[in-house]
Amino acid sequence: MSTSGEVWAVLLAAGSGTRLANAVGGVKKQFLEWKGFPLFWHSAITFSNTPAVSGIIFVFPPDQVEEMKEVVAKLDGADSLGMRFKVTAGGKRRQDSVFNGLNELPSRCTHVLVHDSARPFASVKMISGIIDRLQAGDEAVIPAIDVTDTIKEVEDGIVERTLTRSRLKAVQTPQGFALSTLHAAHKQAEEEGWDVTDDASMVEMAGKDVHICEGEEGNIKMTNPEDLKKIEEDKRTIPCVGWGYDVHKFGEGRPMVLGGVPIPGGPEVIAHSDGDVLLHALADAILGLFGGGDIGHHFPDTSDACENMSSGIIVKEVMAKAEEAGVEIVHVDLTVISQIPKLSPHRELIRKNVASVMGLDKAQVNVKATTEEKLGFTGEKKGIKAVAAVTGLKKI
Ligand code: CTP
Ligand code: MG
Repeated sequence: MSTSGEVWAVLLAAGSGTRLANAVGGVKKQFLEWKGFPLFWHSAITFSNTPAVSGIIFVFPPDQVEEMKEVVAKLDGADSLGMRFKVTAGGKRRQDSVFNGLNELPSRCTHVLVHDSARPFASVKMISGIIDRLQAGDEAVIPAIDVTDTIKEVEDGIVERTLTRSRLKAVQTPQGFALSTLHAAHKQAEEEGWDVTDDASMVEMAGKDVHICEGEEGNIKMTNPEDLKKIEEDKRTIPCVGWGYDVHKFGEGRPMVLGGVPIPGGPEVIAHSDGDVLLHALADAILGLFGGGDIGHHFPDTSDACENMSSGIIVKEVMAKAEEAGVEIVHVDLTVISQIPKLSPHRELIRKNVASVMGLDKAQVNVKATTEEKLGFTGEKKGIKAVAAVTGLKKI
């Protein structure tokens, strides 16, 4: 028997994601960001790309429904799903959320696909295959894959029996049903107090045939912290470069310090904080990695707190900001430009110290020194300058 009614998806996003919550700072897994969208939206896009699907019922935690109505409208406004949708509240158990979703389906809907938003990788091809089977007359079709582990039933730590692996399947979503069949099964489940973990179970218990179709190895359900790798690995790592420049004037002031290393015999410099021109250039370069502005903004000359401040602390603070912005620093190239004093005897020590301040390997830090051939203010021994280039990696 085929039908001409509509196929809708019920997209479940009303769980609390308890098993993953600790690893992601309490965010419910369906709301984790991946490729610029919350996880649940990826399934919505997949359904919108499946020609035979007419609409989606989004099911969210009851206390977040109003907020999620706005979020969904905004996502759809930015890049329309091109199909009808509704947003509704879920219930305590998964099966309660499904039931609430079923009650929102329009009267023209004859078939429903119930999908866990925690499975963002289901393919259009697989979903279309399920719909084809429903339209050919199957009342229940669910994707399934072979089980690779041997599965045992266990009670109080003791194995009761071992199931025959060749007869076992691991089932996924979306699970497709004739709406009347699923609706009746849910009603019966309510009346008889069935407690199940998927919709097919209650259709089976209601005595109907549940057909399986080929599931997909990649269609995993984000459940435990190790599953997060699936959405992290997909991120691209992009390099970013920050550049910094600083000048200090020679004059009675502070003993010369470069890269945190005192330079005995060097001219004194006039400066705020400890006058370390090299670490100031470095701090500016670090800020440049992530659009962090400049050190004048973060550590103003006018602030008493910054008077005498160790430049090592400034570098550590801007590094913490870079880390917060998701940038990992992988390389630093520093150049001091000054006519006096001769810096080659200090170069290795400066390199070692900068590496230590930054928590980098010495191989990730380079220090150079040059003169300007007696030209300009450095050549005239009026001051010293330093430049820094820092390379970072950012995942997007
Ligand atoms: N779900 C739901 N309503 C519930 C429980 C679960 O809509 N009351 C949804 C979840 O949002 C998820 C899917 O059902 O997309 C599968 O459930 P599961 O993986 O168990 O997710 P959670 O219940 O959220 O996670 P956990 O069991 O770790 O708390
Ligand atoms: Mg659960």
